[in-house]
Amino acid sequence: MTPELAAVERVEILTLQDNYIDLTSGDGSAVVQRAIPLKGDQVSVSLLAEHGFSALVRVHAAGKVRSLLFDFGFSQHGAAFNADALGIDLRQVEALALSHGHMDHTGGLEALSQRIARPGITLTLHPEAYRTPRYMKLGESFKAYFPPLTRERIDAAGITVQESSQPRLLLDETILFLGQIPRRTDFEKGAPNLCCEKDGVEMPDSFEDDTALVMHLKDKGLVVLSGLRPRGDHQHGAPCPGGDRRRPSPCGDGRISSFRSGQAGSDPAHGGGHGGHRARLRDPDPLHRPRGGSGLRTGPAPGLHPQHERHANGFRLKIVVYAA
Ligand SMILES: [Fe+2]
Repeated sequence: MTPELAAVERVEILTLQDNYIDLTSGDGSAVVQRAIPLKGDQVSVSLLAEHGFSALVRVHAAGKVRSLLFDFGFSQHGAAFNADALGIDLRQVEALALSHGHMDHTGGLEALSQRIARPGITLTLHPEAYRTPRYMKLGESFKAYFPPLTRERIDAAGITVQESSQPRLLLDETILFLGQIPRRTDFEKGAPNLCCEKDGVEMPDSFEDDTALVMHLKDKGLVVLSGLRPRGDHQHGAPCPGGDRRRPSPCGDGRISSFRSGQAGSDPAHGGGHGGHRARLRDPDPLHRPRGGSGLRTGPAPGLHPQHERHANGFRLKIVVYAA
């Protein structure tokens, strides 16, 4: 039986780590706002940017606020520094979730969990998040290996692990951990220079551990927060070839449509996540334009509000977007 994702009145996503920071960009909106560290009425410090991602998710439902930390940045202290700079009390965090096992999403696990100070807090992740070796091929003879995430390291941090390749509802059914996202398109190629080994044989990393969080924002639609997205980008709200924009299950993954309210007027996806190493990983088409001309090139689906910075897409994707 499919579990029910509860509708929530408000969703807040506070980015604690991203690839770049620009306090003076002035490009905020009613949906996306810049966090500025203040001391009194003065800007106190710059947030730290790095190649990494971490976000604090807060959902408001039934008179309560529930908090989850999604990913942990690359450096040991970067995301924790930013949380301190923004005056965020991480002791509110009740659960942890991981988008995938790369080091730019796991590096700050210990420093953040120390601030959360909740021994035994549960981290939900896909079991393939421990996959090793993983590396980036920078030529036939040079491989840059990624430090693995180990169960021993998580245990040492006093964290309880919930491994799941299946969807899991978290925090009283207010947040859905998607689990393994099926790859059912031929136009999403993943990242050709990110590799792994199985039984000593090199192969492209198929990222079975790549996953996302989904929240159901009452009367609006779904909010999807991802960290990597080599799998299933278009089932996260952007239209697919032949797909119906109002029913966001065009790629055959029935989970997202199963969890929506079906209310008239609600958008299929109200918020877009971060993630996506597409531009930096030599993807020949960082926008993942599917055959037939649909996809992000034509603009996001109605009601889709992607956050402004997208971890690791870098400037190349911005240039492509502006040129499209
Ligand atoms: Fe990443």
